[in-house]
This record gives sequence, structure tokens and C-alpha cells, in this order.
Amino acid sequence: MQLVFEDDLESSLDTVCKAAAGPVAGVFGPASLTWRIDREAAIFLGAGRALLLQLAHPWVAAGIAEHSRTLADPIGRFHRTFNTVFTMVFGTVDQALAAARRLHRRHGAVTGMLPSTAGRFAAGSAYRANEVAALRWVHATLVETALLSHDLVLPALTHGEREQYWGEARLFAALFGIRQADLPSDWTSFTAYNEAMWGADVLTVSPAARTIAEQILFGRATGLRVPKWYLALTTHLLPEQLRGEFGLSFGESEARSMNLALARIRRLYPRLPMRLRTVGPYQEAVARLQGRKQPGLAVRSLNRLWIGRTLMHLFKKWSFLRGRQHWYCMNYFIDEDALEIEEKNIFTATELITLLPACGNGGLVRFFDANDWVTSFLPHYKDRPSATPANPPARFWKRTVEQLLNNPAGDRLDDFFRKLTSRRWNEKERRGALDGKGQRMSLKTDKHFSRPNPEMMQKRILTAYADKLRGLGLNPSSGN
Ligand code: HEM
Repeated sequence: MQLVFEDDLESSLDTVCKAAAGPVAGVFGPASLTWRIDREAAIFLGAGRALLLQLAHPWVAAGIAEHSRTLADPIGRFHRTFNTVFTMVFGTVDQALAAARRLHRRHGAVTGMLPSTAGRFAAGSAYRANEVAALRWVHATLVETALLSHDLVLPALTHGEREQYWGEARLFAALFGIRQADLPSDWTSFTAYNEAMWGADVLTVSPAARTIAEQILFGRATGLRVPKWYLALTTHLLPEQLRGEFGLSFGESEARSMNLALARIRRLYPRLPMRLRTVGPYQEAVARLQGRKQPGLAVRSLNRLWIGRTLMHLFKKWSFLRGRQHWYCMNYFIDEDALEIEEKNIFTATELITLLPACGNGGLVRFFDANDWVTSFLPHYKDRPSATPANPPARFWKRTVEQLLNNPAGDRLDDFFRKLTSRRWNEKERRGALDGKGQRMSLKTDKHFSRPNPEMMQKRILTAYADKLRGLGLNPSSGN
């Protein structure tokens, strides 16, 4: 067993740094075939195939069965995996190296013993994720499948381009600590390596592999079956021996469904604008290289204040129809980029300390850190939350919708809702519209917050409060 230790990884990363396109361009850069291929959303056509090829390695199946939350949270797993890989491909050199070190550490914990004999691996024998031959196999499945998927819908690469692509893939392997000497030297020997692996006793579909595959492909983990045509395509792209081992068949009906879908995709996909065709991390990388303003955190993280607010607003409308509007109050919205409350006064301080977190993975703690001015109004307040309840496990649909919105198109939709809301409120303000209590209506908006105009409501309450204090013979300007 040839393991990759931290020192090995570091010397491998030196190779990456020397060969990298540039600190900002990243390891591969815009002229690379790796960017040209990996930027295409079409490569997800092969995601199922790559997964099954990886699972067919008994170590990978055992590793996932024993160390991963893939089954509990397959979409989250998928998201994190692609995040890591895309950071290596499209990130700056520093980002790629940091992702490589993180992955090495994560893989360092993936060790164990095989529960049963699978192919050449005996029951009880050790497995390690940071082992050269196992890493080489997983790497090969990614590199080969990406090209196969690309060629399914776009003009195939020439032989020379394949050689260049493989040269770059060798550098990609270095990010996992695989030495150049441990890799096939050219595209022809890489193809030979893959074919030899398909026929060798290394790949054996273990019971764990079959269970994981069934959970994912037949939707037992996600509650959603993959479409018939996608399953057919995945089966078609697998080496024949593995199809049977995974219990997949490819007959006339599967061929029909796959061909129909592929024909449509081939017609439509090349006509799509590049904005829709290419993955978010590629678009961010291009923006970075053109010196354009980087998409804000809101694009890269899942914050979508205005989309969320609009949905809640629709819910509010529905609550009116049911006569339950008083059960549901929409007031002050902020996202993680606007945690510090601007209006620092006794009114907001009181609202703040009476907040009750429903869930949030530490969000409320960060919120209080950003608003420690509260104690200047309420000096006896000591009970700051030190933990927030964790988010409940995200459901499949929630994850999927977040994935769909976590790109520049999602950002534009968010902006659209913000402008729509601002326009409507500006109009209300211009007309001097009044709310149910006869107060002037006004809303302050920004990308990261939406709040009732303090001039309209807070000011009135603060004035009444100051009057009351004066009535009691106290000085309102002392703040407490
Ligand atoms: C070059 C080859 C490989 C690549 C590119 C790769 C990629 C990844 C990535 C991107 C992640 C997600 C890390 C994160 O949470 O951000 C991951 C996790 C993992 N990998 Fe690998 N991997 C490779 C090889 C292997 C091998 C050989 C095994 C098993 C023997 C393995 C088993 C695992 C397991 C069990 C996890 C944890 C999954 C979880 O947290 O749910 N990987 N890998």
C-alpha cells in the first residue's frame, strides 16, 4: 500500500505551483482544456457513471458507507464535492492549494477494514482513501467521464487536444498528492489503464456499493428517482461487466429513452447562451480575470434575501385569505452581510434581546457579536446566546432549489425582486399610503436588508417613550 503523507502532498503541491497558469488565473487558467471542458454543465450528464465507477472500487464503497453522510444528505454531499473540485479547477492558486490540503485532511480520516471480501480485497484488509492506487482510480473516473460527457453533446476533442487534456489532468492529480511517475504518461496509456481496470478484479461491486447505488439512483435516499433516460444513459456509459453487477439493464426501451433525450439535448444545449451553459465557479473565475467586481458573497453563498422575502410575502397574502394575518408578522430582514443593526436605540435593543432563534447554525451568535452596542442601552443584559439550534437536515427540494439559485442567474432573480419591491414601496410612499393604524408606510431596502423606515415607526415610539420618562422625572438622554 503506497500512501500519500502530508510531506508527499506538499512536494506535489510544489509541482502544481511551478506549473500553474498564474496566481490569479489558477492552476489551469482560461487557455486550458480543463477550463473548456469542466466549465460545461453538460459534464453532469456523466455524474452517475463516475459515481458508479468509483463505487465499484470496494475501498470507495466501504469509505462512503462508513465515513460519509452521502446517504443521509446526498445533495449536500454532491454540492460540497463539486465545490471542492471546482475550487481546485477554477479558483486562484491559493484557493486550489487550500482546497487540496483540506481534502487531504478529510481523506486522512477515511480509513478502515473491509467488512467482506470483494474481488482481490480480503475481508478485514485495510483500506485508506489517501492511497495512491485508489486515488488514481477515482481521479481517472473524473477525468475520463468529464471528457466523455463533453463529447456527448459538443464536438469531440482531437487526438492532440486529448493529449493536452491528459497533460493537464496529470497536474490535477498532483493536487491529491499523486506523483507524476505514478500516472500514465500519455492519453493512449491512460485509455489502456482504464480498460485494464474495467477488466481487472480490482473493480467489484460489493454489497455496500450496490446499496449506495440503489439509494441514490432509485431515489431511496433522496425520495426522487433519477429520470429513466438518465439511468439509461448512465447504464449505457458503464463498462458491460459492471452494468450486470449493479443490476442495471440496457434494452430497447432504455436505448429509446436515452436516444430521445440525447437528441433533444444535442439540439438545444449548443444553442444555450454561455451564461446558462457554464458553471458558476467558471463565471466567477472569468469575472476575476477581467478585474470585474467579484460577485458578492450573496452569489457564492446561498443567501437570497429577496427571493426568500418575496416567498414569505406570498405566504402573508395567503394568510390574509385565511383571516390569520395576525399570526404572521413580516418585519425586519437582514442577511449575513448586514448583521449590524444601523438604528442603535432602546427600541431596537429591546427587540434584539427578545429574539428567539428557531434554527441557524450559529447565526444568532454572530448576530449578537455584531451588535454588542445593545449593552450600552441595556447594561444589565448579560444573557447573550452562546449557541443557536442547528439547522434541521435540509430536505431534497430545499437543497435542489438552493443549488438552482446559487449562481449569477439566482442573483439576478434576487435583484429583480428587490427592485420590484422597492418600486412598489416608493410608489406607496409617494401616494402617502397609510397602514391599518393610520401610519405613513415606508420601507428601506438594500441588497442585504429590508426594514420598515425608522422615521415612520421607531421615531414615533421613541418619542412617546422619551415623553413617558420625562413624565416620570427621568432624563431620556441618559439612554436607560
Ligand atoms: C483523486 C481522487 C479523489 C477525489 C478527487 C476525491 C474527492 C473528494 C471530495 C471533493 C470530497 C468532499 C470533501 C469535502 O467535504 O469538501 C471527498 C470526500 C470523501 N472521499 Fe474522496 N476523492 C478521491 C479519492 C477517494 C478515495 C480513494 C476514497 C476511498 C477509498 C474516497 C473517499 C471519500 C470519503 C469517504 C469522503 C467523505 C464523504 C463525506 O464527507 O460525506 N475518496 N472526496
